[in-house]
Amino acid sequence: MSAPILKVNDVRVYYHTEAGAVKAVDGVTLDVPRGMKMGLVGESGCGKSTLAMAFMRLIKPPGRIETGQIELDGTDLVAISEEHMRRVRLNEISLIPQGAMNSLSPVARVRKQIIDGIRDHDGRMTQAELNDRVEEVLEAVDLRPEVADMFPHELSGGMKQRVCVAIAISLRPKVIIADEPTSALDVVVQRQVMETIQRLQQELGISMILIGHDMGLMAQSVERLAVMYSGRLAELADVDAIFEEPLHPYTQLLISTLPVLGARGVFRGIPGITPSLLTPPPGCLFHPRCPEAQEICQQKVPAWQEIRPGRWVACHKYEV
Ligand SMILES: Nc1ncnc2c1ncn2[C@@H]1O[C@H](COP(=O)(O)OP(=O)(O)OP(=O)(O)O)[C@@H](O)[C@H]1O
Ligand SMILES: [Mg+2]
Repeated sequence: MSAPILKVNDVRVYYHTEAGAVKAVDGVTLDVPRGMKMGLVGESGCGKSTLAMAFMRLIKPPGRIETGQIELDGTDLVAISEEHMRRVRLNEISLIPQGAMNSLSPVARVRKQIIDGIRDHDGRMTQAELNDRVEEVLEAVDLRPEVADMFPHELSGGMKQRVCVAIAISLRPKVIIADEPTSALDVVVQRQVMETIQRLQQELGISMILIGHDMGLMAQSVERLAVMYSGRLAELADVDAIFEEPLHPYTQLLISTLPVLGARGVFRGIPGITPSLLTPPPGCLFHPRCPEAQEICQQKVPAWQEIRPGRWVACHKYEV
């Protein structure tokens, strides 16, 4: 098997607020295999977008990457210069940010927004090449060429989101991170946009990280799934294995609260609230809500371990 496209090791991202450090990402380790569709799922505020922004090295103050390595095809993105990173973005790794369709500029035509994105990260293309590329990427996301000359307010939500996907693939990156790409859309449009993203992922051989909090959508869309809880990973495995035999009590609860397996379902009905990332409890962060918590869970952080090939979990139940 070839080396993973992305190797993430012990990444920590803290926001330094007046009240103290918010440990939004606190020791995340995972590999993304080449060409893989990987999901990252977890409740609101657990650090998914922060992790995505860290992968792009776009964390803004008061946030900071404290430690860790993010190796993209062998290059540690945490260590390279800002200038180097600018060339990596969009060319090698790109992000469809959360709420991207609402952050398109209202005063610029689609063509200009795509071209500006390309120019920021690759200054070598001629105007003719840029125009060709615009047409090419619009076609790739199933939009008519005329869309290039429209303004965002002339487009439906689904079309705007397709423009964001077009921007993300405009320089043919190896990895795309899609942060809740369809959560603002209605169910039918959501499915259509997801189908386009899936097709592109396959055709272009891109590795994808899909972020969301809908376990049902994940079940249909990804091959591997990472479950995040309060800044740390709880579990990581092939998506079938997670649904057949969830190991972490948190994953078990997530799945048991789904209305019907495979149906759409956003988290609900898990008792208790998520811990403060400012003053987290000692031990396992899930222990206050865990139906199986033991004494050790209140005292010791469980190790993030590969207990079987490809199956990672952080829970004292499985520690050897
Ligand atoms: N600029 C900031 N300053 C302080 N805290 C922040 C900042 N940005 C995010 N946080 C905190 O970091 C934590 C993780 O936030 P993040 O947006 O990464 O979560 P998320 O999993 O993407 O949530 P959602 O599902 O709602 O998008 C939250 O507790 C949030 O309040
Ligand atoms: Mg988010």
